[in-house]
Formats: sequence, structure tokens, C-alpha cells
Amino acid sequence: MKDITTLVQQMTLEEKAALVTGASAWTTTPVERLGVPELFVSDGPHGVRRVPDVHALGAQSLPATCFPTAALLAATWNSDLLHEMGQALAGEANALGVGVLLGPGVNMKRSPLCGRNFEYFSEDPFLAGELAASLVEGMQSGGIGVSLKHFAANNQEYQRFSTDTIVDERTLREIYLPAFERVVKRARPWTVMCAYNKLNGVYCSEHYALLVEILKQEWGFEGFVVSDWGAVPDRVKSLQGGLDLEMPGPKPYRTQKVVDAVRAGELDEAVLDEAVRRVLTIAFRAAETPKGRAFDIAADHALARRVAAEGMVLLKNDGLLPLQNPQRIAVIGRAAKEPHFQGGGSSHINPTRVDSPFDELQMRAGAAELTYSEGYPADDELQPALIDAAVEAARRAEVALIFAALPSYKESEGYDRTDLDLTAQQVALIQAVSAVQPRTVVILHNSSAVAMTAWIDGVAAVIEAWMMGQAGGGAIADILYGAVNPSGKLAETFPLRIEETPAYLNFPGDNGVVRYGEGLYIGYRYYDAKTAPVLFPFGYGLSYTTFAYSNARLSAATFRDVDGVTVSVDVTNTGAVAGKEIVQIYVHDRKASLVRPAKELKGFAKVELQPGETRTVSVALDFRAFAFWHPGHKQWITESGEFDILIGASAADMRASVPVTLQSTLALSSLLNIESTVRAWLEDPRGSVVSAGLFQQMMAQMGQTFGGGDNEGIGMDMMGFVMELPLASLLGFQEALLPAPSEVIVTELLRQVHEA
Ligand code: BGC
Repeated sequence: MKDITTLVQQMTLEEKAALVTGASAWTTTPVERLGVPELFVSDGPHGVRRVPDVHALGAQSLPATCFPTAALLAATWNSDLLHEMGQALAGEANALGVGVLLGPGVNMKRSPLCGRNFEYFSEDPFLAGELAASLVEGMQSGGIGVSLKHFAANNQEYQRFSTDTIVDERTLREIYLPAFERVVKRARPWTVMCAYNKLNGVYCSEHYALLVEILKQEWGFEGFVVSDWGAVPDRVKSLQGGLDLEMPGPKPYRTQKVVDAVRAGELDEAVLDEAVRRVLTIAFRAAETPKGRAFDIAADHALARRVAAEGMVLLKNDGLLPLQNPQRIAVIGRAAKEPHFQGGGSSHINPTRVDSPFDELQMRAGAAELTYSEGYPADDELQPALIDAAVEAARRAEVALIFAALPSYKESEGYDRTDLDLTAQQVALIQAVSAVQPRTVVILHNSSAVAMTAWIDGVAAVIEAWMMGQAGGGAIADILYGAVNPSGKLAETFPLRIEETPAYLNFPGDNGVVRYGEGLYIGYRYYDAKTAPVLFPFGYGLSYTTFAYSNARLSAATFRDVDGVTVSVDVTNTGAVAGKEIVQIYVHDRKASLVRPAKELKGFAKVELQPGETRTVSVALDFRAFAFWHPGHKQWITESGEFDILIGASAADMRASVPVTLQSTLALSSLLNIESTVRAWLEDPRGSVVSAGLFQQMMAQMGQTFGGGDNEGIGMDMMGFVMELPLASLLGFQEALLPAPSEVIVTELLRQVHEA
């Protein structure tokens, strides 16, 4: 590889300014005289969207495999499989001459209404981070870079270019950043894409604290930060904020502004040089892998089918599934013949081929008779005649299969959903069909939760098939006929009603601002805290077999945070067919100095078991599994004490709980200050020592200060009252009895505390 430092020195100011802005919609600027190659980037994330004309943003792309979208990938809970898919993506990117694939997106599913939820993994940062890291490792092992996006707190499409996300520091650290952090630290992505929106008042493209202090300095990110396409309102400010590459280009006017700013002394040339260094590093790294290898269309299609089947979630099954060779099947719904396998927008892939669910079913069904009814139109009109025809077909059949896909006018990149519902026609269709045919299966295509209470009781089975990629049609047939035993579990809670979702009162915001008022409590963290019922909990999914958990145990009953602890459990397949179970490990902190969610996912494992087989699943829990972000200390902290390790088959189905004691190795400085309460002083290890004498004296004088020491005078529990008073205020009431003014005493105590 070229010596980058020397190269930067050899480049003119104009060349450097040009390098940090794209040369086209999809390429960076080459510097021929110095042998600097152009870097070719393409969307992403679940396939390669390589457009032939580099200046055409939205043009039809070259054929590539459309893998399932992230919503389905997350429901696989299968890191190895995603690694494999990453390798396949890298192979296709290579074949199509692409150096960096723009994805994956690891933004949290804060609300099911986000139009782009199909591109996002989960409501849980640990799950999203772990799975995305495996995908990224797979891709980059093939010599193709990724662009982890959209950094950060980009959780809606409404006003996505400008909205100001207001989120408190702890929530940002514990919910919205950890998936990025995990991927950056574990998988070392070549690039990170900043989000369009503002974060606490500053555009993400100019956010020094986010891009430089957190991403580059704290997490050690070594690649370049690229703007989302068109996310840069001010190029000079964005360079100062840590944004290395602006896309798309060219933008001669802005390039000149960068040159002028350096000449005028407004932009430190060292800042520009750093961006140049980062872009060069990746451009050369990408060039190391020769492009243009062929890819195996059939093999990738087969992989897409395996992935699709593994991420579909069986939500309900009265025993109808797997199908026992019915001879008359009513296939209902446009999506049976026009499969809904991807979302609209920048991730739209031109598939190499597409499996039609209807055709795939016909292949499985052999001589059985399949009828097809459209069921609902492509638009939002009500067409009762389509329902009537479907009802007739269902009545004559042994089984009805309804394919219901949320239409793209309801859900896409660029705009959000306004409700959780299927279309009115689809709801009426399901109700009418299931009224005459109780043996009805509903197959859903959507990117996030949909409401089902209006119809779910009437149907025999429901399969969540997501936006399933080009091979999803075959995967559905595999599951319906039991060739594949479903093993997906939800990576997000399915609520009963939109009004009961955590962000309901704060989505999508107004007046240019969205406040994350629910704080840490998104997804199951919220429903746990409210003990609120849901339609289907996080981590839920059925199988054609059953699993028993036994012998839950830990590697130690007491452990140091830096050593971590390993939890093990034996899982047995107690049914008649082979299957895969997803074991979920949640951590519950019995007592903490700050409020914490009741439990948080900190580990998981997917295990395949033959009937009767037992295997031990072991999951290691590290420091971070027990830590929380303390805004006072500005760091991740652990606190000594008791925890419970919960082993579950879903967030609402705990199979075992094991207590464990953590010993924190942190020596934290005291947070006591002039406002600290009596309680805080008593609970502070150092504060309680230095103030012990004073407290004794105060307690003795309490009666004198507050009149008699009983609760009669002002009708309250005096101790309860005193505990929540700032120490300085309490002393203020006793000032006459004190040797010095209260603030002098407290200041002296604080000096003793902090000098320790
Ligand atoms: C999207 C990105 C995408 C980019 C390039 C943007 O509008 O938000 O995810 O990578 O366009 O197409």
C-alpha cells in the first residue's frame, strides 16, 4: 500500500478538497497523477444496487440477489448465517465492481411506524449490534467494505433531512449508540454513514462530539465517515465536525469553499488532511481486492431462501401447520403471485430472479388443486367483489392461505406509517375468509409490527414473513409444508395498539423537533416497566417442536466485573421433529443507583436439536452486560451487588433465573456536590465517613430544630423529609447551633471527600 502520509503531503490543496467530495453519485475523486484510485460505492444493504451510470441516483440497477431485509435477518437470531450472507454479498459486490456496500443500518426500531424499519434490525441494541457485526465481518472478509448507517438517532422518516432528535445522554449511550459501538469495535467497518437529522441541536454531519469524540476517539474507528446522500448543509463545518467524505458529488462550489476556508485561515488544513488520510486509506484498501469475479446466481438464491426461511416467524398455530397434504387449497392475495420481498427506496434491488409463492406452493402440492384469488387491489380502494370471490374459493377449499402485504404507499423509505393496520380491504378479507374457512393461514409481509386483534382469533395460523427477499416464496412453501421447521423469533415487540407503544406521544414530533421522551424505555423495556400486555413479546416465535430447559447454572456465584461470568443451560428437543431454539439471556439488576429497565438482553444462542437430543448452551456475559452509562461519571459503570440472570425463550417466557453477585472493580470518584441530599451523603462511601460526626450531632439536635422530634408539628415523617433535603439546606435550619455557616461546613466536607 502507498505511504498515505507522503501522499497527503504531495497533494495540492485543490486535490485534497476535491478528494473529500464525491466525483459522482457513487464514486470518489481519483487523483491520476498520484495513482489514487476512485472508490466505487453502492447501496446496500441487503443486495448490491449497482447502477450502470454513476451519475444516475435512482436508475435501475444491474441484476443482483435481493436477500431478505434486516427486519427478517434480525428474526433469525443466527450470527453464523448472517456471516455467510455477508460473504455472499461481498462476492456479488466484487462481481459488480463495488468497493463499499452502503449498509447495514443499525438504527433502533423506536416505533413500529418508522417507514424504514425494514432496513433496521431490532428494538434492542445488543441484538442489532451482534447480528450486524456478523454480517459486516462476513462482508469485509471478502475484501468489500461496508458503511454502517445511519449514525445516529435516525429513527423515523418524517422530516428526516432536518428533524432535531432530542435525546438524553444516557438513553443515547444505552439505546441508540450501542449497536453502532458493537459493530465498530468488533467488526471494524471501513466506513460509517452519518444520519441526515440533527442530534440535540447539531446536524449529525457536523457533530464533533458524535463523529470525533465518540466514534473516532473513544471507539477507535479508523475508517472514514461519509455523509448520507445530501446530508451536508455546510461543508466546512462538517469537516470540522469529523465528516470525512461528502456524497454525492461533484460539488465544485463547495470544494472551492473548502479551499477558500483553508486559505483564509478559517479551516485548519490539518483537519482537511485528516479527512484526506482516511479517504485515501479506504480507497487504497478497496483497490487491493481485484474486482470482476463472477458470482453464482443459483447458489446465492439458494442462500437467500435459507435465510428467508430462518427469519420467518410462526406467530400462531392451532395445529393446522405444517400442512398435511390438503387437496384443495385456496391461495388468496396479490402477494401470492406478486411477492412483496423488499422495501421502496435506496435499498431497492433488481433481483436476479423472483420466486412466486404460488408457483412454489404448486410445486410442493403436487396433484393438489390450487386456486388463486387476488383478494385486494394494488391501491387503497375497497373492492368487495374481490373479497366475495376469495370467500367462494375458500369455502370450496380445505385450507385458505391469505398473503397480506402492506402496500408501499403505507410503508417505505422516505415516509412513515400512520397506523399499525393492514389495509381496510385486507382486514375485511381476512375476516370474511376465516368466517367461512376456519382453516385459514395468514402470511404477512411488512417490516414491523401490525395490529391483528381485529382478525387473529378467527384464523388458525399466522406467519410473519417480512420483506423476505427474492427467494422468500420458496421459503414460505418450505415452512407451510414443514420442509423447514420455523425457528425465527421476533426482534421487536408486537403491540396490541399503536396507542400503547412507547413513543406514541412523541412520534414523529413537530415544529422540527422529536423528543425521545420515553428515554431508555423502548420496546420490551417499556412493556416490562408498565407490565402492559402485548400481542406478541420480543423474542417470541413458535416451532413445530417443543423445547425444555434444565440445569441452568453459572461459572461462578460471585465474579468480578472485569472477569465476567458464563451462564449455561441444557436445552432438550421434546417434540417429534428436528428444530432450532433461540435461548435468550437477560440481566436483571436488583438495585442500582439510577433507574434501570427490569431486564435487558445481554446474550443469546441458537441451537439445532434432533428429537430427544439435549445440548448445553453457554453464553459469556462480560463487563458491559452488567454496566450502565452514568451521566455523572460520564462512563459505563458497574455497581457491586446482586443480579439475576434470566434465561428465556422470549422476553415474556422465562425458563430459569439464577442469582449472581457482582464485585465491581471500579474506583469511582464521588459525585457529591453542594446540592447532594442527606441520603446521598449517607450512601456515599467516602461522604458517609467524613460526615459521620456531623450527622451524630445533627440527630441529637433534631428535636430542637424541628420541634419535639415527633411527627405532630407538621404531619410528616421527619426522617423521610430530612433524607431528601440537601445537606446544606438541612444544616441551614440548624445554623444557630453550628460552629460555622452551613455552606462553609459542606464546602469543607466536599473538600475532604474529593481529595480522597
Ligand atoms: C439513504 C441512504 C443511502 C443513500 C444512497 C440516502 O437517501 O438514506 O441509506 O445509502 O441515500 O442511496
